[in-house]
Amino acid sequence: MAIFKTNDEEREIPDGTRLEETAEAMGVPFGCHHGVCGACIVQVLEGMENLNPPTEAEDDFEIEADHRMMCQCTISGGTVQVDA
Ligand code: FES
Repeated sequence: MAIFKTNDEEREIPDGTRLEETAEAMGVPFGCHHGVCGACIVQVLEGMENLNPPTEAEDDFEIEADHRMMCQCTISGGTVQVDA
């Protein structure tokens, strides 16, 4: 199991889970769900190594190195904490 944390909450989810649904349920704002709008960009405080590499959509958006789009992320295991 992996652990996903926001500033207010943490949840255990299966390894390999896409974070989109969990992050949205935990209060991260979403818009397009397709890596276009940038609404779901958050700073990753812990566990960047437990996420998939940035997608082409994220590269195109030129977001900061310690930030990720939650609609583009899958957690491989371990713990990921975001500032949200
Ligand atoms: S929800 Fe639009 S970029 Fe993630």
